[in-house]
Amino acid sequence: MPGSVLQDPAIRQKAEALLARMSLEQKIGQMTLTERLSVTPADVRDFHLGGVLSGSGSCPGSNRPEDWVAMNDAYWTASMTEDEKRLAIPLLYGVDAIHGHNNVRGATIFPHNIGLGAAYDHDLLKRVASVTAREILATGVDWTFAPNLSVARDIHWGRTYESYSEDTGIVTSYAGEFIQALQADLGTDGVVACIKHWVGDGGTTNGIDQGDVALSIDELETVHMRPYRQAIDAGALTIMASFSSWNGDKCHGHKFLLTDILKTQWGFGGFVISDWDGIDYLSEDYHDAVALAVNAGIDMFMVSENWKDFIAHLKRHVQRGSVSKKRIDDAVSRILKVKLAYGLFDKPRPLERAWSNHASFGSSEHRSVAREAVRKSLVLLKNEKSLLPLAKNARVLVAGKNANNLGHQCGGFSIVWQGTCGNEMVEGGTSVWEGIRQVAANASLSQEDYGADADPAQHDAAIVVIGEHPYAEGLGDVREGNHLIVEAGSQIKGSINVLRPYGKTLELASLHPEDLRTIRTITEKGILAVVVMISGRPLVVDRELEASSAFVAAWLPGSEGHGIADVLFGDFDFHGKLSFSWPGNGVNAPAGHRKSHAPLFPRGYGMTYLN
Ligand code: GLC
Repeated sequence: MPGSVLQDPAIRQKAEALLARMSLEQKIGQMTLTERLSVTPADVRDFHLGGVLSGSGSCPGSNRPEDWVAMNDAYWTASMTEDEKRLAIPLLYGVDAIHGHNNVRGATIFPHNIGLGAAYDHDLLKRVASVTAREILATGVDWTFAPNLSVARDIHWGRTYESYSEDTGIVTSYAGEFIQALQADLGTDGVVACIKHWVGDGGTTNGIDQGDVALSIDELETVHMRPYRQAIDAGALTIMASFSSWNGDKCHGHKFLLTDILKTQWGFGGFVISDWDGIDYLSEDYHDAVALAVNAGIDMFMVSENWKDFIAHLKRHVQRGSVSKKRIDDAVSRILKVKLAYGLFDKPRPLERAWSNHASFGSSEHRSVAREAVRKSLVLLKNEKSLLPLAKNARVLVAGKNANNLGHQCGGFSIVWQGTCGNEMVEGGTSVWEGIRQVAANASLSQEDYGADADPAQHDAAIVVIGEHPYAEGLGDVREGNHLIVEAGSQIKGSINVLRPYGKTLELASLHPEDLRTIRTITEKGILAVVVMISGRPLVVDRELEASSAFVAAWLPGSEGHGIADVLFGDFDFHGKLSFSWPGNGVNAPAGHRKSHAPLFPRGYGMTYLN
């Protein structure tokens, strides 16, 4: 099992031999991970940095694979400088490739995890992981902060769509498979995975992002830890700590979670990283925060800008003894073992690697895997009078704000952090409308707001594509008021970082009244409507459901929108089953007063043409 590779005596000996040659500066440099906009290749060389990352949407040059390869080649080459003051220790470059290599123009963008959860197809999941790994490698990158193993328990959470399911069993069953396919042979065809966010990020009270998880250790273990155990047993090499807290204590400073469980009890041999400036929230005093986090068990520190401060503070702690040399050596040994196990020391420079700039990047072959994933992710919730499948010669009016909007169908973490709007940025993809137009010659795209140009004399049926706009993290939360999302932190200059929520309710008719208005404008003319909802989560859609003859949950399908037409026009039957229970109105009660409500559709629900 790849996980055991970290126990390999040869790997351990090489790491120990290298560690013995390293200065304190070199060791602390390896524990430092910073953002590309804050660091040059010369900095990587002179400060011996262990990692550089792209924050979501932080892309070099024209954001083409060749620009990424050139950037990585410069960083990697700098890290391999060997002289009297420097040791050649190759840099790891990390990205959020969470549904394909989603930052890069022309990449194959897969359905977000909530859709893959509905597909419930392990063979497909492995092919998604393999294609993702190859498109990451095509850009000279070796490390992705994925898969997200959250078990999202409250769909008010803005990161629900990054979770495969509300059910621990489904997430667990996916965890190991994805890791093995993503890391593959740990060298040529695979990339280093980073499972996240440890632990319980999907279990916060009222689904508040970076909030607090009020659970017993047994509940935390049963619901949220199990997928990580599976992933670690499958060989996951790195883990990212969660911004959230457990019973009031921040995960980033939680020794019991980061060291006692992961490293001592479970024997995890890889390394733990902090999230984006995640240690800042441990204390108003950054010097204290550094020691708290290192001593709790963080091994590599994602410091977006002030990485030189971090290095200086940690050095001072070691010199004063408030952080032991033993802890430093443990952290660096883990980092070296992962780099050795992954074969990073033996790889040629990025410009000379087999996968760099590979022609398969964004290829039709890769996109066909994503198209299959879209088909299998769709969940049919209603099909009155067997309106679906539609005949390919039907005169179909296609309407709705998400009908021809690749940015909206990809959702957050797509080209830019919060996602995009329109079709320009998601190159090579097909919108829902473009997919329909390819199979239904008599389909037409509504040219008027709310489908006002619907005409029963010209249209046999309508397809109305509705739902959410893109969002990411706390900006996707649905909550009352502006809760404090992150307390004052030291390096965030003490400002209280309160994110504007997506809305105050899960009721679509309140969040986006334009959708119900469009459906009704069309159906009031006697035209039957097939409603397709693009969203990062289930929503309360009682009124939209009532107004439609057929209703499809399409989640965030990514770049291959034609997968939706494949099913609506009968080339494929529906396959997807809900991996989240679907709420009725009860879920909308104010936070704290949400009575347990029977779902409108239970997890596992999903119709086919036959029923
Ligand atoms: C973000 C996210 C994390 C991501 C990291 C790097 O804040 O919490 O999932 O991997 O920053 O972009």
